Amino acid sequence: MLVVGGSSGLGLAVCRLAYGLGAEVIIASRSALDKHEELTATVGPGIETISLDVTSEKDVESALERVGTIDHLAVATRPPLTPSLFLQADLGQARQAFETKFWGQCQLIRMAHGRLAPDGSIVLTSGIAGERIYAGNFAMSVINSATETLCRALAVELAPIRINAVSPGFIAPKPPDVEARARRFPAGRVASAEEVAEAYIHLMESPYVTGTTLVVDGGARLV
Ligand SMILES: NC(=O)c1ccc[n+]([C@@H]2O[C@H](COP(=O)([O-])OP(=O)(O)OC[C@H]3O[C@@H](n4cnc5c(N)ncnc54)[C@H](OP(=O)(O)O)[C@@H]3O)[C@@H](O)[C@H]2O)c1
Repeated sequence: MLVVGGSSGLGLAVCRLAYGLGAEVIIASRSALDKHEELTATVGPGIETISLDVTSEKDVESALERVGTIDHLAVATRPPLTPSLFLQADLGQARQAFETKFWGQCQLIRMAHGRLAPDGSIVLTSGIAGERIYAGNFAMSVINSATETLCRALAVELAPIRINAVSPGFIAPKPPDVEARARRFPAGRVASAEEVAEAYIHLMESPYVTGTTLVVDGGARLV
């Protein structure tokens, strides 16, 4: 399994869970190779780490050359994005975030496609902002909605390879005001990364599920 954006947070939790289930885990991100020892200590011996900036065609090409057939590809990259209202937002930063999270995954999928097993799968990451509007988050809202639409479009075009997305709500750690707001969610709290990571494994292991966004938000979008 190749996890792009697997060196921290949600992607790292996916790596740990998959490794525990016996998967051969390859972690790719800009810092993954530099963090090889730390990641090995966190995930387990025998993992592979690859240095890759998802926005660089050259990086993706040389990373994929080192990888054989890919059973499952998970993408959990997170671009820096300062929350700001639309009229005050730095559009350059918003464009760069789109470049990393949205176009980065497009480039990655196009280049990795020939290496994916026919019964393999891709799992993308969207997020609650794609469905529930929070003022100051327009860029991530659009990126996440676009990711979910991409997932549906590619489920048709890339079949029999399956492609799904996970839409997390709020994952710990979060600032105290968000933790307090989360007490009003049906689940009564924010999620752990491990709880959300389970959804990636479920989608990878479900042969009849494709073009689907699995929401793992503790009901946050409903309240
Ligand atoms: N955390 C939440 O509450 C939450 C909620 C909803 C949705 N999400 C979504 O879940 C995903 C993961 O979020 P997270 O909170 O787990 O993020 P995170 O802990 O910041 O991890 C982001 C990962 O992306 C990698 N990355 C960033 N830019 C990259 C690039 N240009 N090329 C390759 N890798 C890159 C980082 O590694 P390097 O720095 O080494 O490159 C890291 O491995 C994101 O798409 C985010 O929008 C998160």
